[in-house]
Amino acid sequence: MIKNDEKFIGYIFEVAWILPSVAIPVAVITAVVLTAFAVGIRVPDVVGRIEPKAIAVTAPFDQPGLRELAPGKYEAAIVAQVFLFTPNEIEIPAGSEVTFVLTSRDVIHGFKIVGTAVNMMVVPGQISKLTVRFDQPGEYLIVCHEYCGSGHHVMSGKVIVQ
Ligand code: CUA
Repeated sequence: MIKNDEKFIGYIFEVAWILPSVAIPVAVITAVVLTAFAVGIRVPDVVGRIEPKAIAVTAPFDQPGLRELAPGKYEAAIVAQVFLFTPNEIEIPAGSEVTFVLTSRDVIHGFKIVGTAVNMMVVPGQISKLTVRFDQPGEYLIVCHEYCGSGHHVMSGKVIVQ
């Protein structure tokens, strides 16, 4: 026969295991929701597909570079290929909002702007897009952070905020 005391201890142990197994997923989901909405972490949008061979004749990649869409709002069309970004340097005034639109001519590359929320993969056949605001003047390093071959470590660029 199990005594009542033993039953009670068994119950306590069971609750001690059940509570964390409920609390931990709730904490994880809360953290994901908070970072997505409060901190503003977003995944880059896939805005379309493009045939890598057609990059040279498809807007905006036929003329890569910076375009002013409205006062203080820019679009930067950038083509990634082994082992460079075209263009690899853009210059904007502080307070500008820049939408980066990228695609790759060959293999998978990365596009990370150090010190900002811009961090995306650049996949051949796919167009990736991410908008960010540059409030602080300075030079922001752009790095390829997906291993793309022997020159991967030299694949970089910069954003100059005046
Ligand atoms: Cu491009 Cu690594």
